[in-house]
Amino acid sequence: MLRDGKLPRTVSLDTCRAELVIIDQTLLPAELKLLRLWDLQSICEAIKKLRVRGAPAIGVAAACGLYCLAARYTERESGAFMKHLSDDASALNATRPTARNLSWALEVMLRCAEAAADGGVASILEALKYKAKAIEEEDVAVCKAIGEYGEKLLKDGDCVMTVCNAGALAAVEYGTALAPVYVASEKGKRLSVYSLETRPLLQGARLTSFELTENGIDTTLICDNMAASVLASGKVSAIFTGCDRVAANGDAANKIGTYMLAILAKHFSVPFYICAPYSTIDFSTPTGGDIVIEQRSEDEVRSLWYEKPMVTEKARIYNPAFDVTPAELITAFITEKGIKVPDKL
Ligand code: MRU
Repeated sequence: MLRDGKLPRTVSLDTCRAELVIIDQTLLPAELKLLRLWDLQSICEAIKKLRVRGAPAIGVAAACGLYCLAARYTERESGAFMKHLSDDASALNATRPTARNLSWALEVMLRCAEAAADGGVASILEALKYKAKAIEEEDVAVCKAIGEYGEKLLKDGDCVMTVCNAGALAAVEYGTALAPVYVASEKGKRLSVYSLETRPLLQGARLTSFELTENGIDTTLICDNMAASVLASGKVSAIFTGCDRVAANGDAANKIGTYMLAILAKHFSVPFYICAPYSTIDFSTPTGGDIVIEQRSEDEVRSLWYEKPMVTEKARIYNPAFDVTPAELITAFITEKGIKVPDKL
């Protein structure tokens, strides 16, 4: 999970056993437990329930998971094998609608299988294994590159604000929004981070503050509704967030609360950066209004984390997992290809 190799990757493929290995993020920070998965139901459940989460990590999990499923198919004829593969890819793709990396990774895997189909089932499987591992390794390199570009925007003593978890736990290693912080700290810069708690699933509290402190970064957790007062204090040098899908016009969907931060950033003249690999950009979705926003269960707001429900049954609950930040509020995207303004992606 973390950068020094002492702890496991957030998500990886065990090629010898054809098993998807993930950190069960629902147990953090209390327990660091690895899960080994190889059947469709458990892999879909792990993604839906956010055992593995964060756009890049979901993409890698889907790619590695698809190979693990395929390795157990009994079909020995390419056509039937490909039909099974495509059905499983559709089931995986339906688990979470907003993260572009999920459909991107599955499309890459299906194209790879089609290209190898003439060689028969053994050749498809070999190609899928190689591609899944390549997607996993590429994620590390891409996040590291985002960190290298983003680090140049930070100087010794700076303070960053972030929301949700777009760190090592949201990718294979490093993450996106936290990669610049990690790379800067590797280069000896002393940084501090304000992490928003991120209601209702508390990714900022449970995950971001966990991985930052494990990496020795000075971290302060705040409730989401404290962001304006902290920004007003003038302590924050920049806001860095990840994102789940970027539309062709530069509008970006990320964890609910990101849009609020972007508006605050403009009000307080704090630069607002979105860190994302190119696999998060969806050039076929024209604007943010076309991005499908995942709606999640009422219970996450009503009763999760509480001994008793905290909301009367009579009240309806609205629980969108993401919001869309308009391009004009985004100072720049930090990508593996450099720092890009929203209209020149
Ligand atoms: O619902 P989650 O926890 O999967 O949401 C994650 C986020 O919104 C992250 O900010 C985003 O995926 C970017 S991860 C590098």
